[in-house]
Amino acid sequence: MSHITFNENNRVFHIASHGMSYIMQLFKEDYLVHLYWGKEVKNYNDSFKVGLVDRAFSPNPNAEDRTFSLDTVPLEYPAFGNTDFRTPSIRLRMKDGTHITDFRYESHKIISGKEKLVGYGQTYADKEDVETLVITLKDTLYNLYLDLSYSVFNNYPILTRHSVIRNESEDTIYIEKLSSCNIDFRNENLELIHLSGAWGNERELTRQSIEKGNFIIDSKRGSSSHHHNPFVALVDKGTNETSGNAYALNLVYSGDFSSEIEKDSKGNIRTNMGLNPFTFTWKLDSKTQFSSPEVVMVFSSSGLGSLSRDLHHFYRHHLIRGNHQHKERPILINNWEATYFNFNEEKLKNLADVSSNLGIELFVLDDGWFGKRNNDDSSLGDWFVNREKLPNGLEGISDYVHKKNMSFGIWVEPEMISVNSELYNKHPEWCLQVEGRRKSESRNQLILDLANPQVCEYIYESMDSVLTSAKIDYIKWDMNRNMTEAYSLTLPYEQKLETAHRYIMGLYDVIERLTKKHPNVLFESCSGGGGRFDPGMLYFMPQVWTSDNTDAIARLAIQNGTSMAYPAISMGAHVSAIPNHQIQRVTDLKTRGDVAMAGTFGYELDLTQCTKEEQTEISQQVKEYKKLRHIVQFGDLYRLRYENNEVSWQFISEDKTEVLVTFVKKLGMAQEPFMRLKLDGLDESSLYQLDNKIFGGDELMNIGLDIPNMDGDFKTYQIYLKKVQTLK
Ligand code: GLA
Repeated sequence: MSHITFNENNRVFHIASHGMSYIMQLFKEDYLVHLYWGKEVKNYNDSFKVGLVDRAFSPNPNAEDRTFSLDTVPLEYPAFGNTDFRTPSIRLRMKDGTHITDFRYESHKIISGKEKLVGYGQTYADKEDVETLVITLKDTLYNLYLDLSYSVFNNYPILTRHSVIRNESEDTIYIEKLSSCNIDFRNENLELIHLSGAWGNERELTRQSIEKGNFIIDSKRGSSSHHHNPFVALVDKGTNETSGNAYALNLVYSGDFSSEIEKDSKGNIRTNMGLNPFTFTWKLDSKTQFSSPEVVMVFSSSGLGSLSRDLHHFYRHHLIRGNHQHKERPILINNWEATYFNFNEEKLKNLADVSSNLGIELFVLDDGWFGKRNNDDSSLGDWFVNREKLPNGLEGISDYVHKKNMSFGIWVEPEMISVNSELYNKHPEWCLQVEGRRKSESRNQLILDLANPQVCEYIYESMDSVLTSAKIDYIKWDMNRNMTEAYSLTLPYEQKLETAHRYIMGLYDVIERLTKKHPNVLFESCSGGGGRFDPGMLYFMPQVWTSDNTDAIARLAIQNGTSMAYPAISMGAHVSAIPNHQIQRVTDLKTRGDVAMAGTFGYELDLTQCTKEEQTEISQQVKEYKKLRHIVQFGDLYRLRYENNEVSWQFISEDKTEVLVTFVKKLGMAQEPFMRLKLDGLDESSLYQLDNKIFGGDELMNIGLDIPNMDGDFKTYQIYLKKVQTLK
């Protein structure tokens, strides 16, 4: 259970949930200070005194008290210019041009349930499963209110936070920064983990020490991006998968974000997360309010494994929504790497015939079915079918596929516009641009201005009419470039810097309307692979194409890093052809299958060109995944090993009776050493069956399993265990 208390005597707020405590205090003249975040403290007795010290060059709000400066105190939501010199959470520009704010405690409320954030993706729970504390602060000079919101969920060591600024003054002000959260860790020896990458190698686990100074992880690309993910974890030195304190932040937002990590001269570490102030300013008129997106904060005292499992479970139950949330996801065939743009109805039908024979459940027609699109230089925006390629339209191919007992899906890229398109001829003003400047293209395309409601309406209408034109069960929603000249022609001078944020809110609105109108359609989001893999998108679309890089060995790092925050059910993973199209590597079909089975499984190659033997193996894999997928998609992940040459993942089914282990060896060597693998998370006093042998749970966890010798490079070993008996 979770609970939130406020102690009137010592003026302490204590939020506790599932082994985690978060403690704040009203200090001196109603300043809100941060005391603690970590393992649950059942009996808090003011042990944590806020350090008061007369420190040179740390000025004092109250001249009589030289021991008090905001510069030396851990703060809950700091501002700059008012005796604290560290990174602020909030920066407002007032009508007089100044940036000073001084927010003090005004009131608070504790409610059951959680208030809805208008327009954003967000976590949710039944009223009885979540409790919320809202602390309202007020500026000492202007009629400005700041609501800091904290929600805790039963059975999770998780807190979600966001901040709202309310302008009750008579004047317009400008928000230049409004973080979703701030945490002031007091001189703890923490390291930083984040997920950095690029196209084709997204979300690689990056771990580094935190040195004095400021370090920023951010995106200024208009999407959360391939390069950084809105996820950071601070961990005690030595924290690993099974032990150590870990504190993670994950922003529920799909656009520009930043997380600033500052280590001050005394070793204190301040960390915030929120909208990226670099590309954001918001005009806040009198009597209006603005909310930051939500950040999910998760704590673990037993390492990164349990931190990820808690997040995965939480996202599966309290972020992802809709008819597909708890449904097994279909095994798909996607024609992209099979045909690229070069297809016609007959080719697709042949691919559908073979796929259906192999047991595949969903046929996805990728890029190239619309307008005059035969390569990537035209037609984005023209969402009508290319009759030269598909004389019977989407309906014709969809009917054919359905007759083959498969569902049918298509690729779209609705946020984009090709200069070479009918839409651009009609509406050149509809793309992001700056009057008089070059419009920089990327992959021959420009970006539609989703800050303009008219454009959003066009996208909604065109997608709705595509979805109603044929029986379409699945949409792959792509976004294949980052933003440049990212300004809307429709916004006046003082609101130009709202464009990037308005774009994301426009996008969320379009998707919300489409998914409401077409609740049975399974949406998979994509941005050149995993360029927009974040909790914001997961709220609207339950699956993401993890990476355009389909090489099984490259996928180890990508899927392992992604799993830090995101559950396997959200990760699209496909078997593709060899030599692999992105990196030319040759791996066995078994290896490609075993690695892809750690996500939502599919194929992305020309199955009509496979040999009989390959087709037999594929139909075997398909059968196998149908038997195993509930373990991967709804179960718990244990990252057993992640080393240079060996990677191993283990999934345990939701009911804890079935176990799937995948072990991958990258490069072979002469006279290989004996390899042994200890399993995790099993029941010590149960027996498990592997083929015809029985093992004790404690035996498998403490002694481990022998991995058979596998000659050659890029080999996998996959096993399935079933609990057969629990000993008294
Ligand atoms: C992006 C996607 C690919 C494919 C192409 C089509 O790169 O990530 O999977 O859909 O677009 O143009």
